[in-house]
Amino acid sequence: GGGLAVAGVALLSARGLARPAKPVPLPPRTAAPATGEHRLSLVAAERSAKLLGPDGPTTPVWTYADDLFHLVRMRLGETLHAELDNRLSEHTAIHWHGLRIPNDQDGVPYVTQPPVKPGERHAYDFTPPDAGTFWFHPHCDTVAQLGRGLAGVLIVEGDETQPYDADVALVLKDWRIDEATGQFIEFSTTRGALRAGTFGTVRTVNGGPAPRLELPAGGDARIRLLNLDSTRVGDIGIEGAEAAVVAIDGNPVSPFPLKEWRLGPAMRLDLVVRVPAEGGEARLFDYFAAKPVLLATIAGEGEDRKPAAFDPAPLSRSDVPEPKLKGAGRLSFAFATASEKKAALAVEADPLSAALLDSLCAAQKTNWTINREAWPAGGDSRLPKPLALLKLGRSYVAELSNETPHVHPIHLHGFTFKVLRSTRRDLPVHFADTVLLTPKERITIAFVADRPGDWMIHCHLIEHQETGMMGYLKVA
Ligand code: C2O
Ligand code: CU
Repeated sequence: GGGLAVAGVALLSARGLARPAKPVPLPPRTAAPATGEHRLSLVAAERSAKLLGPDGPTTPVWTYADDLFHLVRMRLGETLHAELDNRLSEHTAIHWHGLRIPNDQDGVPYVTQPPVKPGERHAYDFTPPDAGTFWFHPHCDTVAQLGRGLAGVLIVEGDETQPYDADVALVLKDWRIDEATGQFIEFSTTRGALRAGTFGTVRTVNGGPAPRLELPAGGDARIRLLNLDSTRVGDIGIEGAEAAVVAIDGNPVSPFPLKEWRLGPAMRLDLVVRVPAEGGEARLFDYFAAKPVLLATIAGEGEDRKPAAFDPAPLSRSDVPEPKLKGAGRLSFAFATASEKKAALAVEADPLSAALLDSLCAAQKTNWTINREAWPAGGDSRLPKPLALLKLGRSYVAELSNETPHVHPIHLHGFTFKVLRSTRRDLPVHFADTVLLTPKERITIAFVADRPGDWMIHCHLIEHQETGMMGYLKVA
């Protein structure tokens, strides 16, 4: 709530609407899949950015290319050939978040590949099986590497059944910087790592202040929101325009009006927004806090496109396999704080200690667990046992339960899962790769374990991940 306080009048437009009673079935793909190769060279290095605007100080960010959050657009059917060149001072790797690709391309150091050391190169080769809005990022020392900006956006085109008048990606990310000098401050604090995470000091959208998007008046614009922050949860809403949710984590859903959508770290939301008439403006907000935060202004430019009523077409359905609930295997994962004993043993070490780079990417401390087990902390370099053994090809129903008073965006690698129900929220049934567990909530998901390998499951609130809330499933 709180939207009424923003500009006083006429702000109820697209908010307060319910979901349509009957979801429409998603149509098949209209475009034939492309062929060929998409070649990508990613040079992970330190570069400078002006996060506080052109007159502000310079920040030594880490990026994959000359632009922040390097955006890759490719067509469904193309093979991605990505070469990572590590020019950082520490090892890294690339995890392709949300992509259903072979395990050896999943980019998890020590689990699916050796770390890519400074000066080394590593090639990734795979064909993304689904269209949608995805992203990529490192998977070790992530609090610091992602904290410095190391992430990219991967858009796989080919899911549209009608052309849009614009297609824009908006990356939400906060930064831990000193506003006077632009230098980074400690990425993690003991207090934050034990609770809701350590929040950034500066909020940005596409690496700067809330942008003003000038889009074709009266047109339908596809807005792809990506929460690439390590900590912050947003409540996405819009004022001054009609908007519908058409995909969640890149997966098409039967379109429903955007009311407010809770977007945790790593989660994505694709909207279709009816751009206001020439001279008109709509605003995207984050309503999570008491005072709404402006994310972007959408301004109508030029002659009006479409006088017809707003009725966005659904995206085409994906090839994500439908889990068979009858006879499915049963799994349950409890997300909890570490026991008193373990917490007492935790050392008051610098949470950013480089030790985590040599020790399965976990910090010195253990704060969190999955099924009472924590990912091994500092110094331990033996891979733990999997949280569960899954049979290749079998469907599974998993209950995720949050036993803590904090939110946990839970991400499963390799499998796009169906979110079936929540004990606390009225969620539409949808496919996702990351689901937000709110305090004391239980969420039931289902998926088909259709590819072998060791697949990570962890909290994407990175300080939780790196202090224990991480494990893996073995599919064989
Ligand atoms: Cu986006 Cu295991 O992470
Ligand atoms: Cu968490």
